[in-house]
Amino acid sequence: MPNTHTPSSMSSWKWLPNFIFQICLINHVAIVKSQFPTPIFIHFKCQNNGTYTSSGTYKKNLDILLSSVSPNIDTNGFYKASIGKNSDRVNLIALCRADLQPYQCRDYVKNATAEILKKCPYKKEAIIWHEFCMVRYSNNAIFGKVAYSPFDWGYSIEYVPNEDKFYRELYILLDSLHNRTVRNRSSKKFAAASRAYPDYRTIYAFLQCTPDITPRDCGDCLTRSALEIQHCCRGARGVRILRPSCYLRFETDPFYNETMVETIL
Ligand SMILES: *[C@@H]1O[C@H](CO)[C@@H](O)[C@H](O)[C@H]1NC(C)=O
Repeated sequence: MPNTHTPSSMSSWKWLPNFIFQICLINHVAIVKSQFPTPIFIHFKCQNNGTYTSSGTYKKNLDILLSSVSPNIDTNGFYKASIGKNSDRVNLIALCRADLQPYQCRDYVKNATAEILKKCPYKKEAIIWHEFCMVRYSNNAIFGKVAYSPFDWGYSIEYVPNEDKFYRELYILLDSLHNRTVRNRSSKKFAAASRAYPDYRTIYAFLQCTPDITPRDCGDCLTRSALEIQHCCRGARGVRILRPSCYLRFETDPFYNETMVETIL
């Protein structure tokens, strides 16, 4: 059985190549299309909620569902589907980060769906947070239900000077994005913005919820994630808090597509 947890200390080391990738992402659009950075940011949790056999119906249903994600994910980057009955029922949700274009979203979920099977073989329930998307499946009902756990995080190993002041500015930005995400009436439940912080560097942040939960649940999820920063990663200059229902990330370098964000928001 694979390890079900990527230690955070490991994940922080994955940050640097990833950061270089993001510079490539911003400067060279073409690179993104087919090439994945190595190592790519991947966190996953294999849940102890039953197992399936390689010859059983659950496995068959899961394979069908996973292969249906990339061709069927909608232009908003969201997909939910289920197949099967009772103990063979598989429910799946996939969500791309809101600033991706549809072709990028399809590429990334394709990679993520292949990866999650390798990471969590025989587990009926699993979740993967890939660089730009999230995919989860379960035998239990998951649609329209907020899920705060399992959760994970990644953070930069670089620390900000003048931590208290930085965090005051960060929380002003996160609060405003929290409100904008919750009030967002478009099909993409997200908000992204930057805030100048002359004492150090500009802060960029991105918040997103799955569109199947209520605004209130979305807000609760994001509040928990914002509070979590203090526990998991205080002082880091870049943090991602990963939950099934919501995503929170901030960095002191640009990491999302501002053109796309301006177009949608
Ligand atoms: C950012 O979004 C714009 C507008 O959709 C698009 O033209 C551009 O290629 C995107 N950049 C990247 C790096 O994907």
